[in-house]
Amino acid sequence: MRRIEAKAYWDKRYSKSLDWCLEPSVTAKRFLNYIYENNNFENRFKILDIGCGYGRDSIFIANFLRNSQIIGVDVSKVAIELATSLKNTLSLNNLLFIETDALSISDKKLGNSFDFVLSHLFIHLFDYKGRLSLYQKFKNLLKPKGLFFFSVPTVYDEEFRKGKCLGIYTYKNDRGVTKTFFNKDKITCEIQHHGFEVLHVYREKEIHFHSKKHVHDLFVVIGGKT
Ligand SMILES: C[S@@+](CC[C@H](N)C(=O)[O-])C[C@H]1O[C@@H](n2cnc3c(N)ncnc32)[C@H](O)[C@@H]1O
Repeated sequence: MRRIEAKAYWDKRYSKSLDWCLEPSVTAKRFLNYIYENNNFENRFKILDIGCGYGRDSIFIANFLRNSQIIGVDVSKVAIELATSLKNTLSLNNLLFIETDALSISDKKLGNSFDFVLSHLFIHLFDYKGRLSLYQKFKNLLKPKGLFFFSVPTVYDEEFRKGKCLGIYTYKNDRGVTKTFFNKDKITCEIQHHGFEVLHVYREKEIHFHSKKHVHDLFVVIGGKT
């Protein structure tokens, strides 16, 4: 999907419902678990949530890490309006939502030295060239030793090989969304070759209830900037 199409698609989808409710994603839960295990709840982190949607993960994190500063970005105007309104209702002052295309973000726009970049079910929406551009941007935004927490659908996901085949791992579904699916080697090699050390790859299930109940099979990956 080109940017304009993506924006229209997601604006329309978010106008109808909050598809994933306010339950945080498996990526956000893994992230908070990492913070807990490292006893870092009181630290002041800078955290970027890319493709944040209506902000369910940013809000969850901002609520727990009150000393940290969280920025959520998304291309959908409707998503950012919803996220901002939820943030205001909850009086979270450590959180900012920005409507922008991830492919045009830069350290000049957002500042650099983020401790963490998070991104749940986002990078699989881009083709290889787009993903490489995103990895480069995330590297520039992260401080040395910063961490990239993200998720992608696996080849064991029920949607793999459904819809129009655009490549061995890439399918366009009946809603017109193009998704790339990954096995462990593919995601590991891809990020290793683009400036990240793979620290963990977790296989997770995430249940979604929009349309009809379905279960996604995902990898949640922690990459360390090298
Ligand atoms: C599957 S949704 C995930 C949303 C959110 N991470 C969550 O789990 O609730 C993918 C998100 O990526 C956003 N998106 C798609 N293309 C984008 C782009 N080029 N720049 C920024 N956001 C984009 C969409 O608007 C949508 O909110």
